Amino acid sequence: MIRDLILKNRSYRRFYQEVGIELETLRELVDLARLSASGANRQPLKYVLSCAPQKNALIFPHLSWASYFKDWPGPSEGERPSAYIIVLGDTEISQPFGADYGIAAQSILLGAVDKGLGGCMIVSIEKDGLRKVLGIPPRYEILLALALGKPKETVVIETVGPNGDIKYWRDSEGTHHVPKRSLDDIIIEN
Ligand SMILES: Cc1cc2nc3c(=O)[nH]c(=O)nc-3n(C[C@H](O)[C@H](O)[C@H](O)COP(=O)(O)O)c2cc1C
Repeated sequence: MIRDLILKNRSYRRFYQEVGIELETLRELVDLARLSASGANRQPLKYVLSCAPQKNALIFPHLSWASYFKDWPGPSEGERPSAYIIVLGDTEISQPFGADYGIAAQSILLGAVDKGLGGCMIVSIEKDGLRKVLGIPPRYEILLALALGKPKETVVIETVGPNGDIKYWRDSEGTHHVPKRSLDDIIIEN
């Protein structure tokens, strides 16, 4: 089951924007992050939730999508995320934030997939602008954004070919392909 969940947990970048996500759902997802591992159990992460269209519209322009797709500026209106979870680091608790935010992000995305949703981790963020529109105090470092929604695209995994190209690509039908290195390539000794 965990393998199925991880296989389904792809980076989705196009959504049924009209399908909303309740605030309570976002709170349940953050609760999964809350229960996850944290270096020295310091738990320095804090979160901003957004599921209202007006607030979502403030966040969207500050995120960068799919850097390998040079001609694609990101999802168009109607296919944008229905919600966001912005992961912050509380500098009054600890700094730097180590692996905590990656672990939290994965917990949240796995929880989203389990609920029939999907999303994408985004670290390419125009942070000053996002801080301004959301009124995030300087004490919090913006670490990562999770875009969430009901996925409107098919994502398939394939094995990296002999040329070693790891760039994801989209075919003429809009299916998104993600090359993954083979198991034998990544286990260097066993
Ligand atoms: C730390 C991290 C940062 C990422 N930042 C971005 C980003 O800024 N924009 C984006 O579109 N995708 C981002 N991604 C998604 C990756 O492109 C994606 O994980 C990769 O292409 C593999 O696809 P998969 O998640 O379906 O396995 C990020 C992923 C990770 C783990």
